[in-house]
Amino acid sequence: MSPRKIIIDTDPGQDDAVAILLALASPEDVTVLGITAVAGNVPLPLTQKNARIVCELAGKPETSVYAGCDAPLSRKLITAEHVHGKTGLDGPPMADPTMPLQDQHAVDFIIDTLRSEPANTVTLCPLGPLTNIATAFQKAPDIVAQVQEIVLMGGGYFEQGNITPSAEFNIYVDPEAADIVFNCARPITVMPLDVTHKALTTKARVAAFRDMGTKVGDMVAAWTDFFERFDMEKYGSEGAPLHDPTVIAYLIRPDLFSGRHINVAIETQSELTLGATVADWWRVSDRPANATFMRDIDADGFFDLLATRLARL
Ligand code: BDR
Ligand code: CA
Repeated sequence: MSPRKIIIDTDPGQDDAVAILLALASPEDVTVLGITAVAGNVPLPLTQKNARIVCELAGKPETSVYAGCDAPLSRKLITAEHVHGKTGLDGPPMADPTMPLQDQHAVDFIIDTLRSEPANTVTLCPLGPLTNIATAFQKAPDIVAQVQEIVLMGGGYFEQGNITPSAEFNIYVDPEAADIVFNCARPITVMPLDVTHKALTTKARVAAFRDMGTKVGDMVAAWTDFFERFDMEKYGSEGAPLHDPTVIAYLIRPDLFSGRHINVAIETQSELTLGATVADWWRVSDRPANATFMRDIDADGFFDLLATRLARL
């Protein structure tokens, strides 16, 4: 099979960074047409810069990086420096990138790419709030039918939320955007907290990164050390979830994941449960299925894949 063409829409974030590295290390599986940055974990000037830092770390400065929306569709931006640090990529200090930021707006890049590539050949991989994707769909409704699949990290059902008791960060930041995307009627695959909370870092898994003896391995181990502290304190667990790389891992090894094709609706009204992903796991409503909502992951297989692929960079 020829590699799948993807656009990574992202708000790096250490876990976004690992997802980007995994994609750039896997050319036989995915062709990264571009990386579109969105405001999320930290404001846009930092997410677009971080995306370029990661491409340079991967030794792929030729990757096209675009800056997109700097705020959610209709709400004030909420950020997550408490998890990712002031820069979004806290850990060892990193030099500013020298590779260019593309002039085109990320939303226009998404639109142009979906219009120019053959229908059903481009997969969107959102790893942050869904603002860029929803804005592109609103601005150019004709592109929706062109999308092959949307594979995203966001939401939670059994695990509920991480930024509020009932909402996961990416969906909570821009629930209106999420609502648009989940109603787009194209195939959607979701990596919720239910999956990512089953793939925690451990001493041995982080050691596998460090033992690579490469710049990338050292950096991934150091990033993991940095953001682990927050989740370990919060959940009392040995390690922390590496959320966003599950999206890319799914494109490479879908057999590592299992879930159900069900209806997923987004709460956009309630103050208490804003951004909840109301997943009809038990199929008790007659709302039509609109997403494959994953629940399980082969965590060892996932971390083995990460270690094997990142060692290439
Ligand atoms: C998601 O929120 C961000 O903090 C992470 O990068 C991930 O995309 C997890 O809830
Ligand atoms: Ca993210």
